[in-house]
Amino acid sequence: MRIAVFASGSGSNAEAIIQATKKGTLDAEVALVVTDKPGAKVVERAQSYGIDVFAFSPKDYNGKAAFEQDIVSKLKKYDISFLVLAGYMRLVGETLLEGYEGRMVNIHPSLLPSFPGLDAIGQAFEAKVKITGVTIHYVDSGMDSGPIIAQESVRIEENDTIETLRQKVQAIEHTLYPETLQQLFTSKEHN
Ligand code: GRF
Repeated sequence: MRIAVFASGSGSNAEAIIQATKKGTLDAEVALVVTDKPGAKVVERAQSYGIDVFAFSPKDYNGKAAFEQDIVSKLKKYDISFLVLAGYMRLVGETLLEGYEGRMVNIHPSLLPSFPGLDAIGQAFEAKVKITGVTIHYVDSGMDSGPIIAQESVRIEENDTIETLRQKVQAIEHTLYPETLQQLFTSKEHN
């Protein structure tokens, strides 16, 4: 399975996925990293593993359809069959959905449908809920709204700060994402 990881920021999830492919616990190859932020740390991380990066600036294009068309061309060139969004901070448009709906997943740091959108960890902390977590879901045209594939909960303790909560959530993300992808790729659906 040749996959592309999409990220806009640090890329710690991208790196966890890459490491799982190197260890062989995830039977896939990250053949391309796609980012809309050419200066993001994920670029360095990908390059340190020798992975090609397609970095583009949306402002150089005349709208979402135009840059997504360019992404699709790259995905075809690299023979990518599955898209993994990991902190890609854009709503996916028609062009990408047309080609890849059902073969595109995202990770979100809350128990959806609670706390969609930006700063989900902060939203959960402010709301003083006792339990939050991580969700992996298929991508559709909405914001964090596609069918849910996997979830894991995280308890918010009295002494947690936003920072300790963030660390707990991220630690779960880094194991749940590669494991869930492996389950998806070995299930009949994607073979
Ligand atoms: C993660 O918390 C992910 O759930 C969210 O964006 C964050 C990306 O972090 N969608 P990183 O770039 O993988 O470190």
